[in-house]
Amino acid sequence: MDNLIISCITVLLSSIFLFLQSNATSTYNVLSFGAKPNGQTDATQTFLKAWSAACSSVQPATIYVPRGRYLLKAATFRGPCQNRITVRIDGTLVAPLDYWAIGNSGYWLLFIQVNGISVIGGNLDAKGAAFWACRKSGNNCPVGARSITFNWANDVVISGLLSINSQLTHIVINSCNNVMVRKVRTIAPDQSPNTDGIHVQSSTGVTIIDSRFKTGDDCISIGPGTRNLWMENILCGPGHGVSIGSLARNYEEDGVQNVTLVYSIFTGSDNGLRIKSWARSSTGFVTNINYRNIVMKYVDNPIIIDQNYCPNKQDCPGETSGVKISQVTYENIQGTSTTPVAMKFDCSPSNPCKGIQIKDIKLTHMNKKAQSFCKNVQGSKKGLIFPDSCI
Ligand SMILES: *[C@@H]1O[C@H](CO)[C@@H](O)[C@H](O)[C@H]1NC(C)=O
Repeated sequence: MDNLIISCITVLLSSIFLFLQSNATSTYNVLSFGAKPNGQTDATQTFLKAWSAACSSVQPATIYVPRGRYLLKAATFRGPCQNRITVRIDGTLVAPLDYWAIGNSGYWLLFIQVNGISVIGGNLDAKGAAFWACRKSGNNCPVGARSITFNWANDVVISGLLSINSQLTHIVINSCNNVMVRKVRTIAPDQSPNTDGIHVQSSTGVTIIDSRFKTGDDCISIGPGTRNLWMENILCGPGHGVSIGSLARNYEEDGVQNVTLVYSIFTGSDNGLRIKSWARSSTGFVTNINYRNIVMKYVDNPIIIDQNYCPNKQDCPGETSGVKISQVTYENIQGTSTTPVAMKFDCSPSNPCKGIQIKDIKLTHMNKKAQSFCKNVQGSKKGLIFPDSCI
């Protein structure tokens, strides 16, 4: 009897042990690799060492960055890794004050070919102000760096990240599948050039929710090859809005399809819902785009499709856009426009916009009815439309 009990207990204990072991994660604290949280000592190599240790771990690994400031130059965190990796950041990563230090690399923090990567928490301060000033002055400047980039990564989570004053785009998602971005904030001044909040391109299944963007360029910019993008509870402004484009930059270009933006608020932004293409020939297309339940507060161009983008006229010899835009739905869009034209569909003469559907729109300009503008557009309307629709 006693023996039976003992062997039962032994079996029980060893299964608990096995269970714990199978759920174990190895933790790699950057401090134990020699990082100094003082904001002064270059921590780049210590982070890269922690990365190689975590990346070769057979168990799921956590890289832990405790509170404090860590000075980082450009760093590439390369996969593939043995297992999932979580980077948990309680501290702030800062770039060197001299913008040349990261400015020639194109990327500050780059994750490449990693599957199952989560970045939880963390503040990024790229100290972009001197770089913007250099560009404004017309001096010889480096190309600039995006703050955090994911290239060829699958099953990515970015949660609770704050990025301030990026040199260029704050967050880039390029050639990725299955990405969850939540509770992210990006902050840069209104006039800081090319500081998009998030840029998504050549990626499938990206979700961006509960996030706030105050920045100098697009809050979210959506490039060629984006499919199944879901955006919900986004606050945008200042900034240039949520933009699909600019498309037709290149002749051979992948399309954008199945993009949804719901329950979002634009405040004082240059644009709200924008689709933009160069007036150039292209194989590109935009289809199945859904905008629903959106509030506009003093937005310059709340609803805009502009297919005639060509700031420098000689760049557009064909003069019309080859991008085919179809099945774009605007439903329950309300608020105020700072310009008289609140709804503008300026489509390509060679490829008119098709299947543009508007339903329940209420946009005013200085307490009066705003206007709408249509060129080369076909579609339908339902419900209350205010300004009067030209569709
Ligand atoms: C469209 O994208 C959503 C995610 O945003 C996805 O759930 C849905 O399956 C996609 N639809 C198609 C037809 O691919």
